[in-house]
Amino acid sequence: MADCQSAVDGVDYVLHQAALGSVPRSIADPIATNAVNISGFLNMLVAAKDAGVKRFVYACSSSTYGDSTSMPKVEDKIGKPLSPYAVTKYVNELYADVFYKTYGLESIGLRYFNVFGRRQDPNGAYAAVIPKFVMQLMRHESPVINGDGEYSRDFTYIENVIQANILALSTQNTNALNTIYNVAYGGRATLNELVDCLKKYLAVFDEQVADIAITYGPARAGDIPHSFASIDKAVKHLGYAPQYSLDEGLKQAVDWYWKNLALLPVEDRVVA
Ligand SMILES: NC(=O)c1ccc[n+]([C@@H]2O[C@H](COP(=O)([O-])OP(=O)(O)OC[C@H]3O[C@@H](n4cnc5c(N)ncnc54)[C@H](O)[C@@H]3O)[C@@H](O)[C@H]2O)c1
Repeated sequence: MADCQSAVDGVDYVLHQAALGSVPRSIADPIATNAVNISGFLNMLVAAKDAGVKRFVYACSSSTYGDSTSMPKVEDKIGKPLSPYAVTKYVNELYADVFYKTYGLESIGLRYFNVFGRRQDPNGAYAAVIPKFVMQLMRHESPVINGDGEYSRDFTYIENVIQANILALSTQNTNALNTIYNVAYGGRATLNELVDCLKKYLAVFDEQVADIAITYGPARAGDIPHSFASIDKAVKHLGYAPQYSLDEGLKQAVDWYWKNLALLPVEDRVVA
């Protein structure tokens, strides 16, 4: 709590991103995920309220759509959570709403959909799929797709997420506050399409990547089959206008990984 208090001391606006990400990590250790994502989030809300913070913008998650099969995902139509991680991110939304109602703390929650981009950590058991696959392809290893590769996601380049955060922080539209927004590109790609695209862009630097075979493994617990966002609410209330398609974002991300990590010895390939 003391760390949270000192983080918000003299601060007007908070962009709260910290959490333990990863659905599999939360299934392996729900207590740690709960402690960081719920108790840690609550600490930040209390510290922000006590410090008189003007606006609290926070990361929430598309995992909140859970077992809802409706598509595209619209903010007020959610299902039941499919993982401990999803529970924690939904509880964040509930707490932020209650802190507005009870203490008047202004907030906006941003439900991110599969964010990727330069500097995203490719290492560790809980690495996100895009940096992990990029790193494996650069090493000429077969990426392992969980399931048949036909699950789809609304992969969202980091620049679009930054734009949404700035808009949420700065909007003067009072109707836009104390609610949540999908933050995505508003498109969908299967895992098979994703890997094809990664191979295409990496092959520009190393043509052997084009011939690497894909391996398929069992589907993963807690994974939803399809995730595709409606971004209409953010467009209408925040003026959100994502500039980077999946294709453009992947091109930039692959370029960054190649120039920053590919030429290093394997043990030095870490994102500082
Ligand atoms: N990356 C995605 O696709 C995605 C999708 C939906 C939601 N989100 C949410 O977006 C936010 C950022 O995700 P990310 O992908 O950048 O994750 P990340 O793991 O790269 O970054 C999270 C950061 O939180 C910090 N952190 C974790 N526990 C902490 C603690 N107890 N105290 C202080 N700092 C702590 C970590 O050190 C890390 O720097 C998270 O809230 C995540 O739940 C991410």
